[in-house]
Amino acid sequence: MAEVVITGAGRGIGLELVRQHAAAGDRVYAMARDPGAAPALAEVAAASAGRVSVHAMDVTDDASVRAAAAATGSGPIDLVYNVAGVLGTVSPEFGAVDWAAFDATFDVHVKGPLRVLNAFLPRLGAGAKVLSLSSQVAASTWPYGGYHAYAASKAAMGRLMRGIAMDLRDRGIVIGIVHPGYVQTDMGGPGADITPEASARGIRALAAGWTLERSGDFYKWNGEPHAW
Ligand SMILES: NC(=O)c1ccc[n+]([C@@H]2O[C@H](COP(=O)([O-])OP(=O)(O)OC[C@H]3O[C@@H](n4cnc5c(N)ncnc54)[C@H](OP(=O)(O)O)[C@@H]3O)[C@@H](O)[C@H]2O)c1
Repeated sequence: MAEVVITGAGRGIGLELVRQHAAAGDRVYAMARDPGAAPALAEVAAASAGRVSVHAMDVTDDASVRAAAAATGSGPIDLVYNVAGVLGTVSPEFGAVDWAAFDATFDVHVKGPLRVLNAFLPRLGAGAKVLSLSSQVAASTWPYGGYHAYAASKAAMGRLMRGIAMDLRDRGIVIGIVHPGYVQTDMGGPGADITPEASARGIRALAAGWTLERSGDFYKWNGEPHAW
């Protein structure tokens, strides 16, 4: 049984990761920005025989992140998933950038995972893993424009996590960056390529097999390395 922390757990890929880890017998700390607005997560927790607890965590708020971490106790954590994300503005806004929205996207994707990692770091030992969800649009190989704040912030998160992987290597902590696929969630929409079930299954397999030698690397949900 692993002790697993999942942010953005109220819906989408995060919720599915909660379901699958709970079904596998893990102890899951499910972090939702507003648990009262996440009825599906409440159902999963209620049916989990105590394996899933739900905690309020807004990853843009340091106090909220630290309070949620404290509410999970002080024992070792095996796996942290940084899932919380926002799409932000899709079309280019040359000349009329919504700076507040731009900054908010960076806050969720770049500072959020760092806040979460900081809050749980004292409880991460050798072999613990932190996987953060990036996107194919973060890669320099992505052939389209648009999604400026989203793409740039996910790219920044990837670079941040790659650096952290180097900093934490001596402690045996494994850091992973993951493109979850184009997934049928509120963010991906119904026409996306794969289901949350398939994405979460792939992400869990990645997490299980991620070794220190590959710490700081970028992978797709299906196990293939992702270009930077
Ligand atoms: N779906 C795709 O095709 C796709 C592709 C590539 C990458 N991704 C990445 O995969 C991750 C999950 O995406 P998804 O498709 O599951 O998205 P989603 O269905 O839109 O869910 C996003 C989740 O993030 C949470 N969240 C947003 N801002 C937050 C904050 N400040 N603090 C805490 N939680 C916050 C949301 O909480 P609320 O319910 O409170 O809003 C929600 O639980 C994201 O990082 C996304 O960028 C998704």
